[in-house]
Amino acid sequence: MLEDKVVKVLDTSYYPGNIMIVLGLTATNGVDKEIAEALKASHVVVEHKVFPDGESYIRIPVSVDNEHVVIVQSTYKPQDKHLVELLLAIEAVKDLGAKTITVVTPYLAYARQDKRFRTGEAISIKTILRSIRCAGADTLIVVEIHKEHVLTYFTGTAINVSAMDALAEYFKDKVENPLVLAPDTGALPRAKRFAEIIGGDYDYLEKTRDRITGEVKVRPKTISVKGRVVVIVDDIISTGKTMALAAKQALENGAREVYAACAHALFVDDAYERLKKAGIREVVATNTVPVPKGVVSVSVAPYIAKTISELYG
Ligand code: R5P
Repeated sequence: MLEDKVVKVLDTSYYPGNIMIVLGLTATNGVDKEIAEALKASHVVVEHKVFPDGESYIRIPVSVDNEHVVIVQSTYKPQDKHLVELLLAIEAVKDLGAKTITVVTPYLAYARQDKRFRTGEAISIKTILRSIRCAGADTLIVVEIHKEHVLTYFTGTAINVSAMDALAEYFKDKVENPLVLAPDTGALPRAKRFAEIIGGDYDYLEKTRDRITGEVKVRPKTISVKGRVVVIVDDIISTGKTMALAAKQALENGAREVYAACAHALFVDDAYERLKKAGIREVVATNTVPVPKGVVSVSVAPYIAKTISELYG
């Protein structure tokens, strides 16, 4: 059961009007509409159907000739289908004569497979980024991508919008002087950014993952969480194991209460129950993907709209 509970955190009334067409595809979670409203642009929904054999059909229902087009498609489950539909739409818009194509993928799938962890593996994100470029995208806007450096695989302009701003804004009135905790070193820049906005300090836990079984272990670290309100921040919550381990670690070390914040709430199977069982008081995520019931959703659309607005002057 999905819950549509979006909290807006930024005033967008100053964006310029009538500059482009915002084309929403098949997996937008409402972000396309919000971006169009913020930019005062035309909002168009793609025509889409699935053939009896499972193949996708995409049609652009308006003229895009000589227009600036923003295509919005998140690539949550079923990732492969949403990616193919995105590629079909980009190439169609290109063929139909768009002046510029900006692709917004609030959640870009495959980002975590960003290198060969084991010999012979595909570098999935490289293939995805090259395909989006090859189909005709001039600019790509993503939100809180797992590792920003992978965007160099996209040879056009690529921008990573931070989700930490929207999340930190939500927590501003909720917690005072929190300790912002990254569940691993990779998430440390996220914790830093979040802490700078909210005005707390930050730290991290050390995590290892078995590349074959997927088992995650959090190595205990001496952190001063005693009596503190802790907000654990990450890019993705998938199975919830990383977040649950980090929360348990913090609570065992005397944290007063623990909150979880992430950009992309993928929430596989019983992830939400796992987090609640670990003692997490509230889980907050952005609307890059639909969030499960119980998770508070904050919108990243104003931040994406602002980025587009800056791009087009
Ligand atoms: C990996 O390094 C990511 O930043 C997340 O920590 C990870 O994807 C979370 O996965 P899960 O919820 O399955 O532990």
